[in-house]
Amino acid sequence: MENNFKKKSLIFRFLDKFQRRNRGNLFMNLKNYYYYINSKIFKFTKDNRAYIIRQLNKNSIIAEIGVWKGDFSFEIFKYTSPRKLVLVDPWLYNKNIRGCAPQVNGKEPLNQSYFDQAKLSTFKKFNGYGNVAILDTTSKNASEKYKDNFFDYIYIDGEHSYKAVYEDLTFWYPKLKNNGKIFGDDFYWREEDNSFSVKEAYYNFISKHKIKKWCVFKSQICLIKNNV
Ligand SMILES: C[S@@+](CC[C@H](N)C(=O)[O-])C[C@H]1O[C@@H](n2cnc3c(N)ncnc32)[C@H](O)[C@@H]1O
Repeated sequence: MENNFKKKSLIFRFLDKFQRRNRGNLFMNLKNYYYYINSKIFKFTKDNRAYIIRQLNKNSIIAEIGVWKGDFSFEIFKYTSPRKLVLVDPWLYNKNIRGCAPQVNGKEPLNQSYFDQAKLSTFKKFNGYGNVAILDTTSKNASEKYKDNFFDYIYIDGEHSYKAVYEDLTFWYPKLKNNGKIFGDDFYWREEDNSFSVKEAYYNFISKHKIKKWCVFKSQICLIKNNV
């Protein structure tokens, strides 16, 4: 199941670029530019989200929802020396979920064995690290294991449908400390009908919870939990 927006005319592609612009709090975006340039100069990792890793404080409590092979998790782990890193993924193939895992050789994963391999690869990477918890379960189940106001940072990159993203935010936002940050991947993800499911979920959540500080930089959203 592919998204066909990219096959459209030049004008559509231009519109697409415009729609995918950086948004939100200017100060937060400037900070992102600073970390982006810094990560380009020091090139400490090839991951194009290096600027996110750069802004995470060391010795923090971090969760990643949607882990796949644990590649980004391992970059976080290597460069931030977290006090605790919680990795959540059910690694379950579902043919009805589009984009529930990165593409494999240009195609969506076609069966459970891709997920089994991704899970194995994650467990191998973190074998023997006592400060890493790998939870082979859904976002909802995992969130229930932690008390509120626990995490410094949560990276959300699970299923990308409107419902799933909105639910992830609902499960995990309370688990953040005041002023803790949620980062989210693929803000401009398009569903098959070209709707922006991830963007809509974040916008509605931000508006419902009156979140004051948020920004979108290079398709990654960052929001800061209100100080209550
Ligand atoms: C885009 S991939 C994650 C990529 C990873 N964050 C990275 O940057 O390398 C999405 C992952 O979300 C997982 N996923 C799907 N439904 C989920 C759920 N309910 N809770 C947590 N993870 C889920 C999939 O199994 C898949 O591994």
